[in-house]
Amino acid sequence: MSHPGRLEGKVAIVTGGGLGLGEGIVRKFVHEGARVLIFDIHKANGEKVAASLDPKAVKAYEGDVTKTSDWEAAVKHALDAFGKLDIVVNNAGVVHNAQASDTVPLEEYERIMKINVSPLYHSAKAVRPVFQKAGGGVFVNVSSISAPRPRPNLVWYAGSKGAVSAVTKGLAAEFAKENVRVNAICPVAAATGMLASVLGGTDTEEGRAGLIKGIPLGRTATPQDIGNAAAFLASDEASLITGIELYVDGGRSLQ
Ligand SMILES: NC(=O)c1ccc[n+]([C@@H]2O[C@H](COP(=O)([O-])OP(=O)(O)OC[C@H]3O[C@@H](n4cnc5c(N)ncnc54)[C@H](O)[C@@H]3O)[C@@H](O)[C@H]2O)c1
Repeated sequence: MSHPGRLEGKVAIVTGGGLGLGEGIVRKFVHEGARVLIFDIHKANGEKVAASLDPKAVKAYEGDVTKTSDWEAAVKHALDAFGKLDIVVNNAGVVHNAQASDTVPLEEYERIMKINVSPLYHSAKAVRPVFQKAGGGVFVNVSSISAPRPRPNLVWYAGSKGAVSAVTKGLAAEFAKENVRVNAICPVAAATGMLASVLGGTDTEEGRAGLIKGIPLGRTATPQDIGNAAAFLASDEASLITGIELYVDGGRSLQ
């Protein structure tokens, strides 16, 4: 006898769901029975993921997570396509090349802060009324282990993720009375398109080996690891969990 998935009947928006960790989250959510709107600035990526899954269960919306109007349109798309909205995963994010903090260009600093932090503001505004009407909902925000444990050379990125973690806790406290849960995931480095920047601009065997040395469990994170964590936090199994940072870091924060 097959068991229902832990997200059976749920509808989610996953930002940046066309690639990397976001794609892992979309795949796991669909596997667990959810229907998903991928909200990504690169439509082709989202469409590819949707086509490789069930096109009835996954739709791609092309938009920019830093724009209020695109958030409003994404929410409308999800409601039109699936009739409801239960979960929003703020996953889209960017990193700067690892380098001395005072050499990071101002435009890069501003880009990091805007893309990593402002979606929490826009999504809170665009989604809260829908969750209020439905009697509840869940936000899962992808932060980083660099928020609780910042290291040299990725300081502005860590600062943006520190904001993601703090806003997550603040919104959790504020929205709890509306049965809206807000949690963060803090991944360790993962071998996505972001890795080259994390390694200072070039992805080398030597660089990867250095990273892995700093992770007690001896490997980087995978999209599956982050999909598993997101599915748990989004599910009713986590119904008493709000305002946490879930470390998916192989013990990195212990060193
Ligand atoms: N990869 C890592 O090592 C790592 C570690 C910790 C946390 N994270 C976090 O995980 C999240 C996903 O990272 P990833 O490694 O999968 O990145 P990625 O670069 O592989 O994918 C990011 C996705 O976000 C989309 N995106 C970027 N800007 C957007 C915008 N303005 N509007 C809509 N979509 C946009 C991209 O098109 C892409 O599909 C990010 O928030 C990142 O900071 C990553």
